[in-house]
Amino acid sequence: MRRIFLSSLLLMGAPLFASDAAKDLPKFSGSDYQKYWNDACARCHGANGSGRDNNGKPLPDNGFDFTDSRKANKKKDGDWIKITLDGKDKMPAFKDKMTPADVEKMIPIMRKFAAK
Ligand code: HEC
Repeated sequence: MRRIFLSSLLLMGAPLFASDAAKDLPKFSGSDYQKYWNDACARCHGANGSGRDNNGKPLPDNGFDFTDSRKANKKKDGDWIKITLDGKDKMPAFKDKMTPADVEKMIPIMRKFAAK
């Protein structure tokens, strides 16, 4: 009995935990794109774009290593803009948070991670 209760708790909790990183994403305002990366993107992609936290531990919803220049350099700006606006799998859509022009201005931040 107790075991059934515990496992149903786990089942109910799982979807809630899975979407935690996408909860309470702030809306973009102003002109500080680096700050917006830290506020809205770094929770999944890492402050340094690698999808890892400051201790090198992979973040729960990381999906792409922007510091992997071999992979990142094959990606087109237009695709990155589209994915940021429309989302993809666990990557949330930002079209209600940023204008396409704002997303375009974040591209240099994403490119910079691979440039080192
Ligand atoms: C809730 C976690 C989460 C947040 C927040 C998030 N991302 Fe993502 N992002 C992902 C995941 C997961 C993927 C991989 C999607 C896939 O390919 O299945 C991804 C993929 C991407 C890609 C495509 C990379 C590629 O070429 O495959 C771009 C570009 C991107 N994110 C930009 C951003 C930007 C910019 C922000 C902030 C404005 C952001 N992301 C916030 C989880 C997140």
